[in-house]
Amino acid sequence: MCGIVGAVAQRDVAEILVEGLRRLEYRGYDSAGVAIVDDKQNLTRIRRLGKVQELSDAIDEQHVVGGTGIAHTRWATHGEPSEINAHPHISGDISVVHNGIIENHEALREVLKARGYEFVSQTDTEVIAHLVEWELRSASSLREAVQSAAAQLEGAYGTVIFDRKDPTRLVVARSGSPIVIGFGVGENFLASDQLALLNVTRRFMYLEEGDVAEMTRREVKVFDSQGQAVEREVIESNAEHDAGDKGQYRHFMQKEIFEQPTALKGTMEGRITHNSVITESIGVNAVEILSKVEHVQIIACGTSYNSGMAARYWFEDIAGVSCDVEIASEFRYRNFVTRPNSLLITLSQSGETADTLAALRIAKQRGYMAAMTICNVSGSSLVRESDIAFMTRAGTEIGVASTKAFTTQLAAMLMLVTAIGKEQGRVSSEKEAEIVEAIHALPVQIESALAFDKQIEALAEDFADKHHTLFLGRGEYYPIAMEAALKLKEISYIHAEAYAAGELKHGPLALIDADMPVVVIAPNNDLLEKLKSNVEEVRARGGLLYVFADEQAGFEEDDTMKIIPMPHVSEITAPIFYTVPMQLLSYHVALIKGTDVDQPRNLAKAVTVE
Ligand code: AGP
Ligand code: GLU
Repeated sequence: MCGIVGAVAQRDVAEILVEGLRRLEYRGYDSAGVAIVDDKQNLTRIRRLGKVQELSDAIDEQHVVGGTGIAHTRWATHGEPSEINAHPHISGDISVVHNGIIENHEALREVLKARGYEFVSQTDTEVIAHLVEWELRSASSLREAVQSAAAQLEGAYGTVIFDRKDPTRLVVARSGSPIVIGFGVGENFLASDQLALLNVTRRFMYLEEGDVAEMTRREVKVFDSQGQAVEREVIESNAEHDAGDKGQYRHFMQKEIFEQPTALKGTMEGRITHNSVITESIGVNAVEILSKVEHVQIIACGTSYNSGMAARYWFEDIAGVSCDVEIASEFRYRNFVTRPNSLLITLSQSGETADTLAALRIAKQRGYMAAMTICNVSGSSLVRESDIAFMTRAGTEIGVASTKAFTTQLAAMLMLVTAIGKEQGRVSSEKEAEIVEAIHALPVQIESALAFDKQIEALAEDFADKHHTLFLGRGEYYPIAMEAALKLKEISYIHAEAYAAGELKHGPLALIDADMPVVVIAPNNDLLEKLKSNVEEVRARGGLLYVFADEQAGFEEDDTMKIIPMPHVSEITAPIFYTVPMQLLSYHVALIKGTDVDQPRNLAKAVTVE
């Protein structure tokens, strides 16, 4: 879920570990810790509740030395956030950090207690420490002990372990949570995300499911789930080194909102000509697969789910292909029916979301014609396990609240539906040229939406003291309203809900009063007149309306209704355009409320646990 960093070096590693944790801070966490051992087998463990800075101060104060160490930022799943529950956990000479969940921790706890181990934390992780300590008593090496322990663990984990008595060796096991090894010269590193190590190396190797690796200063040996020595590909990363830099912006979220024109250019690069979509650029065998698709099943969580919900309108309207969208955590536990010639699409910024990954693995056994992922992180699990990886290329997204990943997913899906429609003869070349022209215009359009920043900042004052907000839209703007509500909830902690505007009178209208701001997304499309009637329903009940309306939509401002006139943009890309003022609104409300915009409470960036 959150962060793991490890290092074996000649030099002191405390600083490298802390810098790695800092680079992973954006993922969200509640406590942090390190365990470092020097060549004389002196072990130092420091843990702190709260920010990495507090851990860093404590490390500086104690002048921690040692060339082998592991570090962790925890996002509590078992046991409250506290210093006692923070990682690393220790059993005898064994130190352990762990991301994920050990599902059979209760049963293991009983077994280990019966063997005389005393548990000091409430975490599931502590069973790994005791189990490895136990296995090491009869194993010939730490690696063998970890392999025996791993065979008894159920659940999803990435875990790194060392033995104080063998202080130049780390052993790492991966099952469901990503681990990447980073190669240095005479020193080696590992982390749960390569971003943590970009300041020390560019050469990486991703472990695969079930792998256990052993790492010293000079070598890295990898063993698969059967215990066989295996080679894994070493890649040279070209990820941006400074992705962790906010530049002129106050928050990563703000930077990422303003980066959207550039991010969208990245998404479309090499995929469209001046008038057509290059189907082949979507992936290997894309022409063959897309020409046969009869149904699309989208699986995702959170913001990515909302983008799937919006794109569903395009799949059916533009490509003429039926489309279902489902939340991954529901899909994976349901007995679903696979339609003939159905394309499975997972949507994910991180490519590591546990529910989405599990849904993909289940679906792959169930007769889909192919599995595509639309994803922002190359080398991620979803990318590696899908037949086609259609990368959004938005650049690293650090803010926990997803912004540019959403708009680039939409742009990618717009190209995809156009390609499907074209390959199946449902999109004429005129229509294709019209869509492509709208896609080309997107970066400039988004710039014009960003120009509303100051106006929206002023408007945000009206929301900051409210406890609830409703967002309304119709058609594909209903999912855009869902995304707007999610953003506001996540970073300003204001309860927000989205409704398809026509659904209002079936219940939620009862909520309307002067304390309930109602935000309406009102492009000038076929549903405008219907939407206007819904707006009247709110007005008649004394609701406070804020209408983001196409300047040609004909709304008139009065005491009960603020109009934010938006420039007229192509109907095709308007859902992407209207997303931006919604992002700005939630950002400014959060600023006024003084919340932790980039790391909102209780949330994590990549949700790698169930
Ligand atoms: C977005 O603002 C959220 N933090 C969250 O809903 C996120 O979209 C969800 O966890 C899915 O993540 P993914 O796109 O990396 O799979
Ligand atoms: N389940 C472990 C705990 O609660 C690890 C959580 C994490 O991934 O940080 O301590």
